[in-house]
Amino acid sequence: MPLSLPIELDPDASKPLFLRIARALIRDIERGRLHPGDRLPGTRTLAKQLAVHRKTAVAAYDELALQGWIVLQPSRGASVSLSLPDPALRSSRASDPSVTAAFAPPRASIPTEGIAPLVFTDGTPDPRLLPRAELSRAFRRALGSRAFLSPIGYGDPRGSLRLRAALAEWLADTRALAVGPDDILLTRGSQMALFLAARAVTEPGDAIAVEDPGYPLAWAAFRAAGAEVIGVPVDSGGISIEALSSLARQRGNIRAVLVTPHHQYPTTTTLGAGRRLALIRLAVEHGWTVIEDDYDHEYRYEGRPVLPLAATGPLDDGRSAVYLGSLSKLLAPGLRLGYAVANPGVLRAMTAAREAIDRQGDLPLEAAIAELLLDGELRRHARKARNVYLERRDALAERLHREFPESLSFDVPAGGLAIWTRVAPEVDATAWAARAAARGLVVSAGTRFALDARSAPNAFRIGFATLASDEAAAAVRRLADALPSNRSSAGLDV
Ligand SMILES: Cc1ncc(COP(=O)(O)O)c(C=O)c1O
Repeated sequence: MPLSLPIELDPDASKPLFLRIARALIRDIERGRLHPGDRLPGTRTLAKQLAVHRKTAVAAYDELALQGWIVLQPSRGASVSLSLPDPALRSSRASDPSVTAAFAPPRASIPTEGIAPLVFTDGTPDPRLLPRAELSRAFRRALGSRAFLSPIGYGDPRGSLRLRAALAEWLADTRALAVGPDDILLTRGSQMALFLAARAVTEPGDAIAVEDPGYPLAWAAFRAAGAEVIGVPVDSGGISIEALSSLARQRGNIRAVLVTPHHQYPTTTTLGAGRRLALIRLAVEHGWTVIEDDYDHEYRYEGRPVLPLAATGPLDDGRSAVYLGSLSKLLAPGLRLGYAVANPGVLRAMTAAREAIDRQGDLPLEAAIAELLLDGELRRHARKARNVYLERRDALAERLHREFPESLSFDVPAGGLAIWTRVAPEVDATAWAARAAARGLVVSAGTRFALDARSAPNAFRIGFATLASDEAAAAVRRLADALPSNRSSAGLDV
């Protein structure tokens, strides 16, 4: 019989309940109260015992399975993993789900030796496509450059002027953004830009309206600045303007709204023209700063590229805007380079905050990327990568349609690097993802992107860019193997 556990929940009620449950169970494993191989109560029992919704118990087990603490098997239910890392590592706080990044990539827990894990990312590019020879040459040159060898060693905290100038041209060309080098701050990924923007436009006690579902690390950046994060529902047309207007009437402390209009994260929808204008109008009316996270602008497969909000409508309408971009999707997330475009006041505040934590950017990286931008290599790479990803998108969409005609439904995304698939209501996406993790496949369920796991969409965000054809085929087979066979108990009382 699986044991019934007296669970001592972390009293910090600001953390999501499922994380508090997961954390309590990790503590029990670390303390030796639970041992490798021990069976855990089923999610139904656990939910009853803790008086929580069953989805919360499923989400807690899913988190633990993704981190490799427990294994979920249809026949045996949940048990403490037999292959936990060594005790020294186990007791490290780095394994605590509330201490590791809130959005660390999930891991597959593989019960069978010798199976290489496969990952449907949440939409990252394939670093194998990088122009590595050209990048290496550019890095070598940068390391020998005068700027790098200068005895001063420090430069402009906004980043290399050469790169900012090249980027300004690229932004004008590809997004109709009329900016110059002084309107740009280079950052270590757009995550840093989000963090700095949060400090520049909000004060503790202010609120920011965000898309829900949305990008949890952006919420983390705003919470770190002391801001309250308020979710606004997203539908098939993007962020709900109606909900945003009604929020504006109820709450006087909103200072900013954060959106991903080009490819809504995670649902991939493009915000239509009507909603764009309505959003800008609302923001101007209420004095909000619109923070636009355009994280994967380069990948557009259907129709013409959609211009950023920052380039839409009259720019002299008194609006305050911060436009954020990143090279993480164009090149690779391991190359930390992002940027912010904003008005001088906001940019100054962001630069000052950046200098306080990181005096300047990575000079060789900035010089190398400037070279690739100026000699056209980045443009060539963007074209090549887009074609590869278009093919991967279509092949995966085809496979998913064929393999899961009833369990998954989706629109093929017009851009971006992921497919948002709704999971049939009789199948629990979180439980399905947990079963996939136990079979060596990582896939992100809707709970990962929701402000409140209880109202999370029953869906997957399936990145298609990193898997070549044979890898995608194998991943889809694992997903099919993991599909709960008894749909009516798809909630999986593991
Ligand atoms: C929606 C969204 N915004 C921002 C980022 C941050 O990217 P980076 O910090 O790597 O530029 C990501 C990365 O996955 C993302 O998905």
